Amino acid sequence: MKEPLRVGVLASGRGSNLQAILDASARADFPARVAVVVSDREGARALKIAAERGVPAVFLNPKDFGDREAYDAAITKVLEAHQVGLVCLAGFMRILGPAFVRAWRGRVMNIHPSLLPAFPGLNAQRQALDHGVKISGATVHFVDEGVDTGPIILQSSVPVQPDDSEETLAARILAEEHRLYPQAVRLFAEGRLRIVGSRVIVGW
Ligand code: GRF
Repeated sequence: MKEPLRVGVLASGRGSNLQAILDASARADFPARVAVVVSDREGARALKIAAERGVPAVFLNPKDFGDREAYDAAITKVLEAHQVGLVCLAGFMRILGPAFVRAWRGRVMNIHPSLLPAFPGLNAQRQALDHGVKISGATVHFVDEGVDTGPIILQSSVPVQPDDSEETLAARILAEEHRLYPQAVRLFAEGRLRIVGSRVIVGW
């Protein structure tokens, strides 16, 4: 059998998407494993989750680096040391610079809690409620130089209920995120994703 794809996860917080990927990768037939988790926040629960699962968990303090490029280069060094073939951003609250994006192009994914291109950036669920949309959802996309603008891999829709708060909508979307992200990782690991211009062709 082929060696599983080695995934590096970058996370700043709670780590529930990391958890979903770890849960999926615990299955023998899943074609990827989490090789390392990197965080820019020392107290990130994601680091704790990784450590508990025996996955190397690395805190890189942005304050220890002169600028973004130096910080991003340090991330790359960790990822390369762990022979990572795919990087998953899972609630990573820093914007990665153009050098990082160039070096990892086509090998970095992000998950976002809206149906992109609607509501990019922060507080996507709040934006959806404020706009009054009836449907929102989750998106997994490849990362490019913009914020939440890269080629879309998978999306899943979620109804917005009239009495939704930001929390109830976020929870409904999060359940879809947890289903979607492992699926996107699997498709990548199986070589079934092809980027053509701004589109991702999914081969079945
Ligand atoms: C998720 O809603 C994700 O879509 C967004 O940040 C949140 C991270 O949550 N990018 P978690 O840390 O994976 O629980």
